Amino acid sequence: MSERRSLVAANWKMNGSLESIHQLVGAVSQGMSEKTKSEVLICPPFVYIPELARLLAKTDIRLGAQNVSHLESGAYTGEVAPAMLKEFGCEYVIVGHSERRMLYSESDVRVAEKFIAVQANTMIPILCIGELLEERESNNTEEVIARQLDAVIDKAGIQAFKHAVIAYEPVWAIGTGKTATPEQAQEVHEFIRLRLARHDHETAEAIRILYGGSVKADNAKQLFELADIDGGLIGGASLVAEDFLTICHSVR
Ligand code: 13P
Repeated sequence: MSERRSLVAANWKMNGSLESIHQLVGAVSQGMSEKTKSEVLICPPFVYIPELARLLAKTDIRLGAQNVSHLESGAYTGEVAPAMLKEFGCEYVIVGHSERRMLYSESDVRVAEKFIAVQANTMIPILCIGELLEERESNNTEEVIARQLDAVIDKAGIQAFKHAVIAYEPVWAIGTGKTATPEQAQEVHEFIRLRLARHDHETAEAIRILYGGSVKADNAKQLFELADIDGGLIGGASLVAEDFLTICHSVR
């Protein structure tokens, strides 16, 4: 049995209102108890970060962001610097989500720069990697995962993964209701850990690898009980308190 503590992270994406986030956070924090074994994290849209910092202050729920600039400051209209997130209590930042890679053209190199910028500001990057449907169907899953991972190992160094989380999110499973089977997910998670172990065995053993892509209240348990799955990155189901809590309580 590994000593890795599970992490269940909510990625709210571009959803919510002041009213709805109050209700959601209230219900989630009330539903947490001694049976909540995993670490729980919420990554709201940027504008709600100060409000969430206030709401979460007296809870065990951690605060994170969905994206960040790779730069420290300057004339970059519309961007948010890592130090700003740190200032408001963010401990984690998602980098390289497939929606950012695909819809906002973030390259492997840019994702690596963001990963480094997050760590330079003493926060923990959650590095998202995952293949498209056509890449899986043409048997290129491992090649794509290796490329996305190596881009960050090359730039940040393997030691940087001592303070990082990886999220495997097959793009074809995101928001589609088509979850990877536990076998498909475990296979890729194991591949990721072995790829890191080539550089440093200890780091590979210690890092948490989350699964993301249509994790729901009724499928979380079978995913989370697998050897190399250390929790989840949850989109749609994290917007419904009851479902999110069930997922949080499904960790081994
Ligand atoms: P869904 O859970 O809505 O499929 O989204 C997954 C995701 O992209 C989390 O980052």
